[in-house]
Amino acid sequence: MTLMGAGFVALGQPMSGPQNGTVFRNTITGEAMDTGQGKPGGRDTKAVKTFFQTGNNIYIDDKSCLRNGESLFLTSCSGCHGHAAEGKVGPGLNDNYWTYPTNTEDTGLFSTLWGGANGMMGPHNEDLNPDEMLEVIAWVRHLYTGPVKDAVWLNDEQKKNYTPYKEGEKISKDVKGQCEPLPE
Ligand code: HEC
Repeated sequence: MTLMGAGFVALGQPMSGPQNGTVFRNTITGEAMDTGQGKPGGRDTKAVKTFFQTGNNIYIDDKSCLRNGESLFLTSCSGCHGHAAEGKVGPGLNDNYWTYPTNTEDTGLFSTLWGGANGMMGPHNEDLNPDEMLEVIAWVRHLYTGPVKDAVWLNDEQKKNYTPYKEGEKISKDVKGQCEPLPE
């Protein structure tokens, strides 16, 4: 992946965890954040280890993870951002306009979820652990309906297969993949 924007990987900066190659910085203040803080669990999955090391979210097109991400998004995000991320009191997350362009990278989106942004966009590290955040990120990316050329979070292969989200799409509850169903 390309690393652009305001220094997600800042060599020589303090690491936010022993095995982290990526430093997550608060979207507003730029301060390095400690991913050890907040809701316990969800730190030793292959996906989180990969993400902390490389910034690559391996859940992005795994249906079992999208299923979980949808459910977490509906609990934690849609009240403000709309059920299809079309925007409500919070801005739309399904188009190619970003207040903070760092959110076009999954590392930037993770940082915004972890540490929050301004006003009503509070930190979500108390209600979502890192693994759950990767599921939410996969779902937010899935809701995208904008031009594929601006979907910088997709690799070339994923761009070829991109189809904009259509409302009413259903993912089977029993779909198998890297993500176990969330506890009921
Ligand atoms: C209580 C309402 C509220 C909740 C809940 C909420 N947000 Fe937000 N969100 C906002 C507001 C308001 C902003 C605008 C803040 C700003 O511009 O700094 C925002 C901004 C954002 C941004 C920055 C968008 C941009 O254009 O750069 C992202 C990304 C985001 N939210 C994702 C989420 C996700 C994902 C969740 C669920 C985990 C969530 N938000 C939950 C209200 C909320």
